[in-house]
Amino acid sequence: WGEDGHVIVCKIAQARLSDAAAKAVKKLLPESANNDLSSKCSWADHVRFIYPWSSALHFADTPDSVCSYNNKRDCKDQKTGIKGRCVVGAITNYTNQLLDYGSAIKPKYNLTQALYFLSHFMGDIHQPLHCGFVSDKGGNEITVHWYTRKQNLHHVWDVSIIETELERFYDSELGEFIDAIQQNITKVWAKEVEEWENCSLDNIACPSIYASESSVDACKWAYKDASEGSTLKDDYFLSRFPIVNLRLAQGGVRLAATLNRIFDNDTKLA
Ligand code: ADE
Ligand code: ZN
Ligand code: ZN
Repeated sequence: WGEDGHVIVCKIAQARLSDAAAKAVKKLLPESANNDLSSKCSWADHVRFIYPWSSALHFADTPDSVCSYNNKRDCKDQKTGIKGRCVVGAITNYTNQLLDYGSAIKPKYNLTQALYFLSHFMGDIHQPLHCGFVSDKGGNEITVHWYTRKQNLHHVWDVSIIETELERFYDSELGEFIDAIQQNITKVWAKEVEEWENCSLDNIACPSIYASESSVDACKWAYKDASEGSTLKDDYFLSRFPIVNLRLAQGGVRLAATLNRIFDNDTKLA
């Protein structure tokens, strides 16, 4: 996602934190963030170039047209081939680092950065084209027109759909957009939300599930009717924006559930 997508995910998440998790997040954030997690949720994009190793951690692409995610096959740095270096591995890694929070021994890692990375990657993994195809770099190499503007398909899903929705339906007020998604979470999706939060017994985070959903949605919604050179307008926008809203909601709900599991667990071993 772009800046707005990450703000939406993190605002939804922070509003759902347990007392223990809210307290931990507040302590990990710097004073300058004013206890607003969303102000740090694009930090991982800003350090992509000063931490080149982090670049591969934003996505997990799959072979063309398989439309499913296989962790063993797909989680690697596409440039170096190093296994585990993808958004799924990153979520597991930063979740594990954060489990050190509050332990008696001094943490080995910078837990503030771990929180920023986890919050960002939990958003990214829900963007269908972050689990797109290797061959077109998750839609980055597919040129389309978004209405009249030349754009790549990845950017359409990171930014344009959200931007168009904001302008058309919410008078460009991000807060109104977030309110609307939160209303859906408590009213329309109330029953599903429990399933979104669930993660098999003993697991603190379930990133392979989220990546699998994204790879299915990439085929079903993102790539469909969006071949090289096509023009995307109302029929594409109106059928896809509900998917974007759902993925943003799931990202926020699951980020909160994961942080709650990390920080609620006061029986953790040191
Ligand atoms: N670079 C290669 N694949 C990518 C993807 N799915 N998302 C963002 N950047 C990428
Ligand atoms: Zn992206
Ligand atoms: Zn990213």
